[in-house]
Amino acid sequence: MTITFVDPRGQAIAATAQPGDNLLRVGQAAGLPLEGTCEGQMACSTCHVIVAAEWFDRLASASDEEEDMLDFAAGVRRTSRLSCQIDLTDAMDGLVVNIPPESSDARRM
Ligand code: FES
Repeated sequence: MTITFVDPRGQAIAATAQPGDNLLRVGQAAGLPLEGTCEGQMACSTCHVIVAAEWFDRLASASDEEEDMLDFAAGVRRTSRLSCQIDLTDAMDGLVVNIPPESSDARRM
């Protein structure tokens, strides 16, 4: 399956993934600036992505904990999610997510 990440400069990067893979890990493996400081513990929001509008309603809803943590993310939009909380399924083949322009990866500084 293919996941498309659109980086902060608007460049689309297609990543190959398997069902069961975690969206944060797939993005990091593809070289996207997703820091993921807390490694999926919902304690950082540095894995924030903006899901393409046509895909947002097709994903399982965010938990209350995820919604709370998104409040701290920079550049939050209506379709924002924490990528560490999204495990891929067959139905997500072709998913498109945007990396927020506000995103910065401390590992690259
Ligand atoms: Fe920290 Fe997702 S990696 S909330």
